[in-house]
Amino acid sequence: MTIFTPRVFSGMQPTGNLHLGNYLGAMLNWVKMQETNDCIYCVVDMHAITMWQEPKALRQATRDVTAAYIACGLDPKRSIIFNQSQVQEHAELAWIFNCVARLGWLNRMTQFKDKAGKDKEQASVGLYAYPNLMAADILAYKATHVPVGEDQKQHLELARDIAQKFNIDFAESIADNGFGDAFFPLTEPMITGTATRVMSLRDGTKKMSKSDPSDLSRINLMDSADDIAKKIRKAKTDMDALPSEVAGLKGRPEADNLVNIFAALNGETKEQVLAQFGGGQFSGLKNALADLAVAKLSPIVGEITRLQGDSSHVDAILADGSNRARAIAAPILRDVRKIVGFIGS
Ligand code: TYM
Repeated sequence: MTIFTPRVFSGMQPTGNLHLGNYLGAMLNWVKMQETNDCIYCVVDMHAITMWQEPKALRQATRDVTAAYIACGLDPKRSIIFNQSQVQEHAELAWIFNCVARLGWLNRMTQFKDKAGKDKEQASVGLYAYPNLMAADILAYKATHVPVGEDQKQHLELARDIAQKFNIDFAESIADNGFGDAFFPLTEPMITGTATRVMSLRDGTKKMSKSDPSDLSRINLMDSADDIAKKIRKAKTDMDALPSEVAGLKGRPEADNLVNIFAALNGETKEQVLAQFGGGQFSGLKNALADLAVAKLSPIVGEITRLQGDSSHVDAILADGSNRARAIAAPILRDVRKIVGFIGS
């Protein structure tokens, strides 16, 4: 059995604003994981262009997301922080995976169906093949663990299927080239914490998302204190008082979401939040949540703003991270070329 060295990889798209779902569902875990793991955090600009992006806006968003990574606590010395397009191995491996993954597998991807909408004929080929590029992101580093929110689960299962099919299809070549019985690891998704699925503030059955047309549905990392307070005040609720037990949140998605957001921001369980607010009206929880969200997010906003004024520093971090990422991915791709049967070095 081939043993793989533990390595963490994850990424975010530089499209629109990062929001509380990105922060609680992914970023908080990323920050924790760098304490004990070798981590690679990518700004996936090649994924972003699966939907058309205005080039200036893409450059700006790539720098902004990098600034947010650092402001949230990712350390560019300890972890590798870079933008995907600077490491060409991602694109090369994605092509090979286009030839490993099956149409039937991609046809099952719910995110494609959601994003392409009714007019699938008009969706880009890149949007359809998006999960193959995601598998390439992870496997170009033989990453073993991928911390993400719940919505990425299906894509990570596909990455495992691709790794497994590659290992089987090329088993003989993998062994002949001295790589043992498996070349790629079957990556473990890490969907952990209380807030793996933060929901819209306007509809507790829909996830909080950048693409929701209503800005009131999400709290953006860059929202002002006034906007945060306004959005939480206007958040949809129901008519009943808050329950004292977690079981009482069943069938009350908006109440569940607000309690969950409070718990995740404060590093508590939902039980602890309900011990404080159970039996009370929503206004009490909402006021406390607005204060808590502002207290947690305002230092981040301050640091993002500072970094936005220093784009050459941000670009230097991305260049350094890209060099370090390439140093890992290049030898892996050299091995992949050999295994597949390509001539060259
Ligand atoms: P993206 O940019 O949509 O989201 C970035 C991260 O935020 C999480 N997330 C949420 N978590 C909880 N509640 C929510 N409402 C919420 N919304 C977003 C996502 O699960 C994700 O972890 N395809 C990926 C980016 C990607 C990637 C990768 C991730 C590209 N290559 C390789 C891991 C490994 C995406 O579009 O994430």
